[in-house]
Amino acid sequence: MIVLGIESSCDETAAAVVDDARRIRSNIVLSQVAEHRPYGGVVPEIAARAHVEHIDGLIARAMAEAKLKFSDLDGVAATAGPGLIGGVMVGLVTGKAIAAAIRKPLLAINHLEGHALTARLTDDLAFPYLLLLVSGGHCQLVLIEGLAQYRRLGTTIDDAVGEAFDKTAKMLGLGYPGGPAVQAAAERGDAAAVTLPRPMLGREGCDFSFSGLKTAVRRLLENNPDLAIEDVAAGFQAAVGDVVVDRAGNAVLMAQEKHPSLSHLVIAGGVAANSHLRQRLDALCRERGLTLTAPPVDLCTDNGAMIAWAGVERLRAGLTDGLDTPALARWPLDPDAKPMPFAGKKA
Ligand code: KG4
Ligand code: ZN
Repeated sequence: MIVLGIESSCDETAAAVVDDARRIRSNIVLSQVAEHRPYGGVVPEIAARAHVEHIDGLIARAMAEAKLKFSDLDGVAATAGPGLIGGVMVGLVTGKAIAAAIRKPLLAINHLEGHALTARLTDDLAFPYLLLLVSGGHCQLVLIEGLAQYRRLGTTIDDAVGEAFDKTAKMLGLGYPGGPAVQAAAERGDAAAVTLPRPMLGREGCDFSFSGLKTAVRRLLENNPDLAIEDVAAGFQAAVGDVVVDRAGNAVLMAQEKHPSLSHLVIAGGVAANSHLRQRLDALCRERGLTLTAPPVDLCTDNGAMIAWAGVERLRAGLTDGLDTPALARWPLDPDAKPMPFAGKKA
C-alpha cells in the first residue's frame, strides 16, 4: 500500500510518499521561513501564494524520488485542516485533483492526527500512548487510544508554547523563528539570575497558559534593561520546562487511570526539538516508569510523511473521504473537547 501525502497548512509546503511497511520513499519539505522573516511571523496570504507556486513541483519531485508513477499510488492523503485556510485549500484541492485523475481514494487528514500518529511510523508504537504536541500553533496533551480515537486531556487557554518562544525571541532581539535562537542563548545563560512566573503550575488538570509568562518577560526587560539576554532566555526556558513537566505529569496520571499499562509519552511539534524540554520530559518519564519517544526532528516539525502515514493508517482501516470534503480552519482532534475561548489565534 503506497500513499502520497501533501501538507500545506502553515508555512511549510511538503510532499512525501510512504508505504504500509513504514518505509518513507520520499519526503520533501520546502520552508517559507525566509518569505515570512521580514514580518516576524507567518503571513497567511504570502503562505497561500507560496503554496500555489511550489506545490505541483514539490509533488513531482516526491514522486520522482520515490521512483513511482501516479498510477502506482493506492491513495492520496492531504491535510484538510486545521490551519491557515488559504494554504489548506491549496493542498487539499491538489490532492483531490490527483485522486480524481488516478481514480484512487482521497484521505482528508487532520494535521494534528498526522503529528499524533508519527510515532507509529518511526517507532512502530502500539496504542494507547500519551502525546504532548508542542508547536507554533498548538500545545496539547492528547491520549491516543486508537486510530480516530483521540481524547484531549489538556490544551492552552491562550498562546501555544512555540508562540511564546517566538515572542520571547522577538523581545530579546533574536529574530524569527525564535525557538532555536532562545535555546542557543539559554545554553549560555543562568536561569537563576531572573525570576519568572510558572503559570498553571500545581493546578488541577493539565491545561496550559503562556501569555502571562510572555508579559512577565516583557516587564522584566522593561524594568531591567541591563539584564543579559542569555539569562532571560535561560529563565524563560526553565519556566516553560517546569510548567510543561507539571502539566504532562498530571496528564500521565489521568492517562494511567484509564490505561494502567500505558508505557509511552510521545512528543511532537517543532518545540519538541528543544533539548532542555526533552531532558526534563525524559526525567519525568523515568520517574514514572514510562519511555519518552521523540521522532527525529524533521518528522516532529511539519512534513508530508506524517500526512502520508496517517493516510496509510486510514486507508488500511477503510476510512476514505469524498471529493466534497471541505477544508477547515478549525478542526479539533477530539470532537468532545470543549472549545477554549482565547486559544488558537494562530491556527
Ligand atoms: O511544528 P512547527 O514546525 O510548526 C507549527 O507551528 O506547526 O513548529 C514551529 C515552532 C516555532 O514556534 C519554533 O520557534 C519552535 O517550533 N521551535 C522551537 C525549537 N525549534 C523550533 N522551540 C524551542 N526550541 C527549539 N529548539
Ligand atoms: Zn504542525
